[in-house]
Amino acid sequence: MQNSSNPEIEFRNALGSFATGVTIATTMGGDGQPVGVTASSFNSVSLDPPLVLWSLAKSSLSREAFCNSGHFAIHVLAASQEALSNLFARSGEDKFAAVDWSVGELGSPIFSHHAALFECRTRHQYEGGDHIILVGEVVSFDARDEAPLLFHGGRYVERRPRPVGEAGQSIDIEHGQFSDDFLFYLLSRAHFHTSRPTREKLAENGLSMEEYMALAMLAMEAPLSGEAIAERLPHTGHKDGNLLASMESKGLICAGSDGYDLADSGRKLFVEMLAFGKALEADLADHFTEGEIAETKRVLRRIIELTGEG
Ligand SMILES: Cc1cc2nc3c(=O)[nH]c(=O)nc-3n(C[C@H](O)[C@H](O)[C@H](O)COP(=O)(O)O)c2cc1C
Repeated sequence: MQNSSNPEIEFRNALGSFATGVTIATTMGGDGQPVGVTASSFNSVSLDPPLVLWSLAKSSLSREAFCNSGHFAIHVLAASQEALSNLFARSGEDKFAAVDWSVGELGSPIFSHHAALFECRTRHQYEGGDHIILVGEVVSFDARDEAPLLFHGGRYVERRPRPVGEAGQSIDIEHGQFSDDFLFYLLSRAHFHTSRPTREKLAENGLSMEEYMALAMLAMEAPLSGEAIAERLPHTGHKDGNLLASMESKGLICAGSDGYDLADSGRKLFVEMLAFGKALEADLADHFTEGEIAETKRVLRRIIELTGEG
């Protein structure tokens, strides 16, 4: 052991050199209230039977609940869940108010968002100095393809962008194939899939994507001159061609002295399409937590900012 003026701190620091993931262990209190703590002491024990362990400080306010409930759930946190880790590392707060959770098959609170989940029946409890070691038999588990939150040296580990050379691994250059780890491929597939129902609906209404984009522009900001529309349309990935004249002849837009505006039938069609799109979005959002949707929007806005031309 190293000499130090404070051996306890030295010991802590030495332990901190072991990098771990971060979990939140949850259980149900005797009063029916959910209980949870952030814990990095989680580890695997046995494959057959499937056992895991973690250790809980005896000073924890959650001690009684974990020692008496007979079950617990371990949530391996995703890289985006640092704030949640901090929330559950505070003693005695109302930790569950801001979390989307439900009751699992053994009675433990289960978060909808996690990188992995292990629902456990408590099999053994051991004295371990100022901690209690809880060993659980895993009755069910779930793992998702999400980057984990990492902890090392007393702080969360910042994820570094992959070196350029490594990014090539997500594309099979030799055979010219994308792998589904390639971000651009995922973005374009997500766009293709999410826009397909809208494209079909537009076709049913006899509208092209260019016409829809022009209607959207005028719905946001009208009147607009022909030049202003022609200038903005390429930013959406479309060409104007003979667009405005043909839209006017279909009665979708009308030309005034200040520029183009939506005609009644164009406005009605646009509102219908908007409602259709919003309903699709709501259906998709049902599969994600509010936090995931907010994070996805943040990342997409940043991608648009970084790759657009203003
Ligand atoms: C990254 C991290 C890892 C932690 N690991 C553990 C752990 O393994 N066991 C433990 O008892 N506390 C651990 N803690 C501290 C508890 O989360 C913290 O003491 C919490 O406030 C206990 O909540 P309670 O008093 O409401 O039960 C950890 C905290 C952090 C930030």
